Amino acid sequence: MKMPKFLFLLLLLGFFHVSVAAIWKQQQQQQQKKTYIVHMAKFQMPASFDEHTHWYDSSLKSVSDSAEMLYTYDNVIHGFSTRLTDEEAKLLEAQPGILSVLPEVRYELHTTRTPEFLGLDKNEGLFPQSDIASEVFVGVLDTGIWPESLSFDDKGLGPVPSGWKGECEVGKNFNTSNCNRKLIGARFFSKGYEATLGPIDETKESKSPRDDDGHGTHTSTTAAGSVVDGASLFGYAAGAARGMATRARVAVYKVCWIGGCFSADILAAMEKAIDDGVNVISMSLGGGMADYYKDTVAVGAFAAMERGILVSCSAGNAGPNSYSLSNVAPWITTVGAGTLDRDFPAYVNLGNGKNFSGVSLYSGKPLPDSLIEFVYAGNATNVTNGNLCMVGTLIPEKVAGKIVLCDRGINARVQKGFVVKQAGGVGMILANTAANGEELVADAHLLPATAVGEKTGDMIKNYLFSDPSPTATILFGGTKVGIQPSPVVAAFSSRGPNAITPEILKPDLIAPGVNIIAGWSGAVGPTGLSMDSRRVNFNIISGTSMSCPHVSGLAALLKAAHPDWSPAAIKSALMTTAYITYKNGIKIQDVATGRASTPFDHGAGHVDPVSALDPGLVYDITVDDYLDFLCALQYTSLQINSIARRNFTCDATKKYSVTDLNYPSFAIPFDTAQSGRTAAATTTVKYTRTLTNVGTPATYKASVTSQVASVKILVEPESLAFSQTNEKKTYTVTFSGGSMPSGTTSFARLEWSDGKHVVGSPIAFSWT
Ligand SMILES: *[C@@H]1O[C@H](CO)[C@@H](O)[C@H](O)[C@H]1NC(C)=O
Ligand SMILES: *[C@@H]1O[C@H](CO)[C@@H](O)[C@H](O)[C@H]1NC(C)=O
Ligand SMILES: *[C@@H]1O[C@H](CO)[C@@H](O)[C@H](O)[C@H]1NC(C)=O
Ligand SMILES: *[C@@H]1O[C@H](CO)[C@@H](O)[C@H](O)[C@H]1NC(C)=O
Ligand SMILES: *[C@@H]1O[C@H](CO)[C@@H](O)[C@H](O)[C@H]1NC(C)=O
Repeated sequence: MKMPKFLFLLLLLGFFHVSVAAIWKQQQQQQQKKTYIVHMAKFQMPASFDEHTHWYDSSLKSVSDSAEMLYTYDNVIHGFSTRLTDEEAKLLEAQPGILSVLPEVRYELHTTRTPEFLGLDKNEGLFPQSDIASEVFVGVLDTGIWPESLSFDDKGLGPVPSGWKGECEVGKNFNTSNCNRKLIGARFFSKGYEATLGPIDETKESKSPRDDDGHGTHTSTTAAGSVVDGASLFGYAAGAARGMATRARVAVYKVCWIGGCFSADILAAMEKAIDDGVNVISMSLGGGMADYYKDTVAVGAFAAMERGILVSCSAGNAGPNSYSLSNVAPWITTVGAGTLDRDFPAYVNLGNGKNFSGVSLYSGKPLPDSLIEFVYAGNATNVTNGNLCMVGTLIPEKVAGKIVLCDRGINARVQKGFVVKQAGGVGMILANTAANGEELVADAHLLPATAVGEKTGDMIKNYLFSDPSPTATILFGGTKVGIQPSPVVAAFSSRGPNAITPEILKPDLIAPGVNIIAGWSGAVGPTGLSMDSRRVNFNIISGTSMSCPHVSGLAALLKAAHPDWSPAAIKSALMTTAYITYKNGIKIQDVATGRASTPFDHGAGHVDPVSALDPGLVYDITVDDYLDFLCALQYTSLQINSIARRNFTCDATKKYSVTDLNYPSFAIPFDTAQSGRTAAATTTVKYTRTLTNVGTPATYKASVTSQVASVKILVEPESLAFSQTNEKKTYTVTFSGGSMPSGTTSFARLEWSDGKHVVGSPIAFSWT
C-alpha cells in the first residue's frame, strides 16, 4: 500500500520535530555537564565484577546512559573522571561504593647563575656524578617541552636505565625521535581540557608534548637541564646555563594548555608518572585552597609519596598577603621564591639632573643620550586606569616620540611596553605601586624600558607633575653580579600562615625564583606576546614556578646520593639545613617590607644543597603517620579513603593529634583572648617529634632561640645520644602561650647540634 503523501510529510515533520528537540535537549545537557572526578571504594567491589573498570562503568551507566569516562585512574585514586550534570553527580554520589564525586578544578601556572649562588659549582664533587645520578628520573607536569633546547643534549649519558617505563608520545610537531637519553619521556593529557573548553585549536598550540608556551621548557631545564656553555638572553646573564641535577633524566607530562590546567588531566599525568617510574615530580602550578581530599594535586601527591616519589610544588605568586599559599599538604614540598645576587640595572636620568636605578632586559637600539620629552600615562588618556597602559587607552598625539611612565598592575608588564610602542612612544618607565613595593622583575621589553620600585616611581612622578616640560632618558647597565643583600624574599612569593592546617608551617623553604635564566620554547618570543617575533634559546623569567624546579632538581641530587631516603627524609634534609641569615648574621630580608623575613615568608629558610647532603638527623614520616594525621584532622572515612585508596578506619580509642605529625618545622596557632577569659590565661600545647640519625654516632643538644616573652618553650629531653646510624629518638616541645591580640605573630627557632651538624627548625606562633 502506498502511503498518502500528506501522512508521509507529517511523519517526516514529526520525526524532525522529535529529533530537533532531542538534539536541543542533548545540547542543553551537554552545556550543563561538568567534569567530575569520581572516587570509588575499590575494596567494596561486588564479587560479581571481574574487572574494576567494569564496575566503574556500570555505576556510571546507572545514572547516565550517555556519559563516557575521560580517564580511569588506579595509582593516584581509584576511580575515573567523566562529564555529568549536577543531578547525575548527586545520584552517582549516593550509589554504593562511591566515596566522592568532586567537581573538577582548573589550575594555573605559577608563572645561570643559580648553581654558583647555591654553592653547587665548587662542591660538585660531593654529589654523585656519573651512573647513580643518571638513574634518577624527574617528572615535570607543565606546558610540555621544546625538545630542540640545547639543555636536552644527551652527550655523555648512558642508555636509558631499564627501570624506566615511560614513553615518548607522538602528536602534532612531535615524534619519538624528539626524545633521547636526556629527555626520556614525553606525554600529553588533554581530554579533561577538551571536555570543558572544546577541541584544542591546533593553529595556536600543538596537541602533543611540544611546548608552545615556554614555561614547561623553562621549569624542566631548571630542574635537570644539561650544561650549556655560552648561554644568555640577548647577552644578559651570559655564562653556562645548567639545571640543578645535570645528569638526571627528564620526563615531561603536558597538562597545561592556553586555557589552563584541568584536574582530570593532572591526575591522569600523575597516574602515568607513577607508572613510568619517576623519582621526583615537579609541579609549578596551583589552584586555590581546598581540603586535601578535594585537592587534586594533594590527592595525587599522596599516592606518589607512598611510592617513594618526592613531589615539589610552587607556593604561589599571591604574596605578600598572608594566607596566600597553595599546595600546602604536608606530603608536598612547598617552595617559595627568593632573589639571586644578580641584577640587570637600567638607569633613569631626569631633566632635573637626578639619576635613579631600575632593572631591564631590553636589548636593541638604545635611546639617545640626550633627554627626551616625558609624560605620565595617566595624563595621556581619557579613561580611568589609563595610567596602567592597557590596550587602546593611550592617546597617540600625547605620547608620540615620548617616554611614558606606566603604573604596574592588571595587565602584563611587557604588554604595557607594547601598548606604549604602538601609540608611538619611544620608551617606558614602569613604576611599581604599593602592591609590589620595591620588588623589581626584569623583562625583555619590546622598546627601551625599565622597571622601578614604588619609592623611585613616586619621586619620578613628583618631578613629572611639578616640571612644566619634563624630560628623561634610560641607560642600560647590562648584567651585574654580587648584589647584596641576597637572597631576599620576593614580594610575589605566597605567604603563610597555612589556612588549611595552621599547625603545619608553610611554605617549607625558599629557592631562587627571580630573574632565572633557563631554556625556552622556539614557538614564542621572550615576552610570550604574540606580537613578539623574536626567538631565543634561553629566557629570564620570575615566579615560584621557577623556584619549585630548583628544589625538584636538588631533591633528585639528594635521591642519587641517598637512594634509601624517603621523600620526607629528603625534604627534612633540605629544610633543616636551610639558612635564615646572611654571612654577616643579619636575617634574610623581605623585599615586600624592607625588613627581616619570617618563617611565614621563607619557611625553614633558603635552600643550601651542599649542607643538605649531610644533615646529621632527619625527621622521617611514614604513610601510617600521614594516615594518623588525616584522622587527627577528623576527616570522615570516605574522605580519608578517597585520599588513601584503601579501607582505612581511624581507631576510635586512639587520641590523634595534628601536632604529632613528624614535621621538620613548628607552627603553633593560639586562640586570642576571649571575653570572659582573663588576659593572663595561658594555653599549653605539646608537639612530639622523632629524629632519625642518618650520620655517625653522636650526641645532639637542643637549643631554643626565641624573641617571644609571651610563650614558654620547653624541650624534653634536652639531649639525645645516638649510638648508631638509623637510630630513632623522640622528644617533645611544650609551648605555653599567653593571650595576644588577634593577628599577632612571633617566632622562635629550635636547633639540635652535635657540634658538627645543626638541625634547625623554625617555630611560628600566630594568634587568631
Ligand atoms: C572496612 O573496614 C572496616 C573496619 O575495619 C570493616 O568493618 C569493613 O568490613 C571493611 N570493609 C571492606 C569492604 O573490607
Ligand atoms: C620526526 O620529526 C623530525 C623533525 O622534527 C623528522 O626529521 C623525522 O623524520 C621524524 N621522524 C619520524 C619517525 O616521523
Ligand atoms: C646613575 O647612577 C648609577 C648608580 O646608582 C651609576 O652607576 C650610573 O653611572 C649613573 N648614571 C649616570 C648617567 O649618572
Ligand atoms: C597628571 O596627572 C596627575 C595625577 O593624576 C595630576 O596630579 C596632574 O595634575 C596631571 N597633569 C596634567 C598636566 O594634567
Ligand atoms: C579624548 O578626549 C578628547 C577631549 O574630550 C577628545 O577630543 C579625544 O578624541 C579623546 N580621545 C580618545 C582617544 O578617546
